Formats: sequence, structure tokens, C-alpha cells
Amino acid sequence: MRVLVTGGAGYVGSVSVERLVEAGHDVVILDDLTTGHRESVPPVVSLEVGSYGAADELARLLERACVDAILHCAARSLVGESVRDPARYYRDNVSGGIVLLEAARQAEVGRIVFSSSAAVYGVPDTTPITEDAPLRPINPYGETKRTFEAALRFYGDAYGLRSVALRYFNVAGATDDNGELHDPETHLIPNVLRAAETGEPITLFGADYPTPDGTCIRDYIHVADLADAHLAALEATAPDDPRTDTALVCNLGIGEGFSVRQVVDAAATVVGRPIPETMGPRRAGDPPVLVAAADRAREVLGWTAARPTLDAMIGSAWAWRRANLDETGARRE
Ligand code: UFG
Repeated sequence: MRVLVTGGAGYVGSVSVERLVEAGHDVVILDDLTTGHRESVPPVVSLEVGSYGAADELARLLERACVDAILHCAARSLVGESVRDPARYYRDNVSGGIVLLEAARQAEVGRIVFSSSAAVYGVPDTTPITEDAPLRPINPYGETKRTFEAALRFYGDAYGLRSVALRYFNVAGATDDNGELHDPETHLIPNVLRAAETGEPITLFGADYPTPDGTCIRDYIHVADLADAHLAALEATAPDDPRTDTALVCNLGIGEGFSVRQVVDAAATVVGRPIPETMGPRRAGDPPVLVAAADRAREVLGWTAARPTLDAMIGSAWAWRRANLDETGARRE
């Protein structure tokens, strides 16, 4: 299959591209490189530098590239930024997303897999969270993901678009070639590893939550497992596959939670020394516990997480950083 991967030079996108290429698929990447990295694009893959929200360029690309399916990973994805600047999130994640859907419709590309987020749930009433839990996002980021998911559903009903929305929980880890490098970095595991590298303490955002050790619990999933799920989801959008007769939504997590404290301890074991830390106040908008019910991805997509341990996730992230980043946490020339 020939697949257009938006955001294919980013963290999740680049690992998904690796997986697609390995499985023998042709890939075209569309990435504006605002958060993606040119170095992440493998030589066998063509990179179009541009935005999925630019209608004319996108139409020309789809006409030229003759893709069978779209993997839509590109998005604005910082919760805090989305609160400060919701316009950017509506513009890129919603308006831009609709431009992409319209271009796909025009070019008769009827298959799409979408990077959604656990942020669509907001603060859940119960955990593990099933896909049928109410969607009550508490920030513009989650709201824009929810909105685009709804568009996929309605486009499916009206125009026959086949789609899978994958609601990621906390993506972590690396492959040999691609890892997580954001600027600014807000995520726990890269910040913990940077603390190990620089000696600058990591700030833990609160230890007074109603959890066994007082720190927040999250469901971490290895980025390579996530990439496997993308491949399975793309396959499920094949014409006549009954799994996508109506829009399919699947959580992607391992179904088990780890606390911030457990992550820091596991990282200390991986790097072989204590991680410098300081305790800070709670970060606004952090739910105490977010753990996925992962049954649907298993049952419907036939996917299981092959690397469901903190050791595998943090170990691979650490190995990638040591090979690719300098002691300040910047990418080596
Ligand atoms: N944390 C710290 N210190 C840090 C960074 C994070 O203590 O420097 C804590 C957070 O407070 C949280 C946990 O580590 O308790 C995980 O935080 P992350 O920022 O790594 O991830 P989130 O759970 O906040 O975010 C994830 C996804 C988002 C998604 C959100 C859903 O990355 O895209 O889940 O709520 F929106």
C-alpha cells in the first residue's frame, strides 16, 4: 500500500514510517518540520515539506502521489500551549484537519488512521478507561482531537470514509533510529533522562494525589508498539473490511499504570545512578490516574504491546539519547 504520513518526521510519525517501510509499504511524508526532524526521514522515503492545511499544495501532492491511505500524525500537541493559544489548535488540528479530509475526498482517498489522544476523556469517572467513556476534554488540545474524531465519524457515514482513531495514552521509548526530542520538552521520561544527563533536577509535579505513592499514574506505551498498532489500523481500513464500516476508535495503552515515582526509580536503574529531583506543586489539569482499557485494540485490531515494561521504554529512550544527543540534551551534529 502507498501511504501518506502527515507528521512523518516527528516522534510517533517517524517510528510509524520505519514500521511501514519494514512491512514493505511505500511512504510519502508530509511534514512542515516545525516540530519534526529532517534527519528522521529514511532515504527510501520522499519528504514533502509543507502543511496538510495548505489546500492547493495538498491537492497537487495527492494527485501526484496516488496514495491508498493516509496516516494523520501531524498536529499541535502541547496541552499547556493549547490553553494559552487555542486559536493555533483550532486552526491546525481542526481547520487544517478538515482541509486534509476535503483533499482526501476530492482525490478519492477513502482510508485514514488518525493520531488521537487520551486527552479526549478529560478527567475520567473510572479507570481503566474504555472507549465508550464520556468524552469531556478539559483543554483545547483534547477538544480539537475530539472534534476531528467526530468529523471522521460523520464523513464515514455520509461519504464512506474508512477511519480508525487511535487514542494514545503516554507514548515513550525509542527505536535505534528515532526517539523523542521536543523543544520545549514537557513529557516526563525525556525530562527525567535529561536530568540524569545534565544533573539539573527534574521537577516532580505533586506528591499529594490520591494514589499509593502520591504521584500521578499514567499508562505508558512503547512507541514501537504504537507503530505496530498503526500498521494494524491501516490494514483495517481496507475496502470491504467490516471493522471500519463505521468509524473505529481504539485506545492505545498497555492497560497498566505506573506512577511518576516508579518512572523516576526505573530510570535510575536504567542509567545506573540516582536521578536528581525536586518536588514542585501540582501541574494544572493533571488527572491523578489515566489508564487505558486496551481490550478493543487487542480484540479488533489483533494488536498487543510487545514491549510493555518501563525498562524497555526507558532503556530504549536512554540508548537513543546516548547515541544521538550531547550532554546538554541537544541533537549531535
Ligand atoms: N511530570 C512531572 N514532571 C515533568 C513532566 C511530567 O512530574 O517534568 C508528571 C506529570 O505531572 C504527569 C506525568 O508526569 O503526572 C506524565 O506527564 P507527561 O507530560 O509526560 O504526560 P501527560 O500525562 O500530561 O500527557 C499525556 C500526553 C498528552 C495527553 C495527555 C492526556 O502526552 O498528549 O496525556 O491527559 F494530552
